[in-house]
Amino acid sequence: MANVLIGLRDWVDDRLPIMRAWNTHMAKYYAPKNFNFWYFFGVLSLLVLVNQLLTGIWLTMSFTPSSEGAFASVEYIMRDVDYGWIIRYMHSTGASAFFTVVYLHMFRGLLYGSYQKPRELVWIFGMLIYLALMAEGFMGYVLPWGQMSYWGAQVIVSLFGAIPVVGDAIVQWVRGDFLISGITLNRFFALHVVAIPIILLALVLLHILALHEVGSNNPDGVEIKKNKDANGVPLDGIAFHPYYTVHDLQAVVVFLFIFCTVLFFFPEMGGYFLEHANFEQANGLKTPEHIAPVWYYTPFYAMLRALPSKLGGFMVMAAAIAIMFVLPWLDRSPVKSWRYKGGLTKIALASFVVAFIFLGFLGSKPADLEIFGIVSTYWARIMTIVYFAFFLLMPIYTSIEKTKPVPQRVTMK
Ligand code: HEM
Repeated sequence: MANVLIGLRDWVDDRLPIMRAWNTHMAKYYAPKNFNFWYFFGVLSLLVLVNQLLTGIWLTMSFTPSSEGAFASVEYIMRDVDYGWIIRYMHSTGASAFFTVVYLHMFRGLLYGSYQKPRELVWIFGMLIYLALMAEGFMGYVLPWGQMSYWGAQVIVSLFGAIPVVGDAIVQWVRGDFLISGITLNRFFALHVVAIPIILLALVLLHILALHEVGSNNPDGVEIKKNKDANGVPLDGIAFHPYYTVHDLQAVVVFLFIFCTVLFFFPEMGGYFLEHANFEQANGLKTPEHIAPVWYYTPFYAMLRALPSKLGGFMVMAAAIAIMFVLPWLDRSPVKSWRYKGGLTKIALASFVVAFIFLGFLGSKPADLEIFGIVSTYWARIMTIVYFAFFLLMPIYTSIEKTKPVPQRVTMK
């Protein structure tokens, strides 16, 4: 039997080099041996991606993409379809898990300067993934056709109306109607289940190919390819398979444990993963009292609301995402990892994290909320300034601060 399988493998390999691909990306891909906790989130992002694709396929089998049938079909999935409830919750909780692991994955990039030369393209593909993920999440949220699906779509789609001259025409083109309707739902369904997943998969492939071309960074920011043995194997590298495949299994087990706890005990997460208003069917004549997007968009939503003009808010929000694309060219530091950068970077990074989380909190609350006697809109303005200062001042603070000497070889602390 083993001989038959090996024969089959060799037969395929003569025609399609699967062993070469396996060696390039797994068995002979040498990853730095000092990966730490922060390096688990790439693999976890892949795991959640697979979860979303599989549960999405099963949901599509019983979902009705029409304004008359969508809401009822989700209830049907939850109550009548065998195991429908768990598949639906795996998908809705999976969306939040996706953003959680991707945010932590991106933060690791900030910590260790993984976006710096020669990994600029890895970062750019990552940012494109992030954009596609935001579009995917937004359109998916419209599909159950609850109140927040409808009104969230109304708020976000109408933002394009702020664009001078062509804005109204664009809004109508996106909706396919004069209001958010079944036609909008239909096209969002097509984009959510077919177009964007294909784009996402292609981007993830490019992301990993680009990474494997230059090799992984690590918590010390040392280029391991600079120290190789006589066979050309990096002295500080270990084969991805079997060492990291086994190592990453630990993270998969812990992640699944947490994921299942949320899935079985807190699938709505107090209205943060599935908002309460979405348990009521969409009604174009009744605006919910407080419209807020799901938690992973709230930092940008807070920026949108921080400005009095719709166009201004829209531009700030777009700029907040766009500026992340040019991060590799804003960082002028001669070292990569925060371990060896100066105090200014550490202060800037800490302020950025505080601002991002605070903006996320503000975006989930009503705009007239008062905190320490200051209305939330002013807080949002201050935090938006901190957010942009992190990026815009980066060329200055990374070039003037004193850095520490980077070791020749990776450290195993
Ligand atoms: C579907 C979403 C994503 C998946 C499946 C994914 C997958 C991966 C994997 C498997 C790795 C190698 C393992 C690791 O270093 O953790 C990686 C590395 C990396 N990813 Fe992602 N990623 C995703 C999104 C993103 C995003 C949104 C960004 C940033 C904008 C990003 C930036 C990076 C960077 C800079 C590296 C290299 C890190 C290093 O070598 O230190 N990724 N990604």
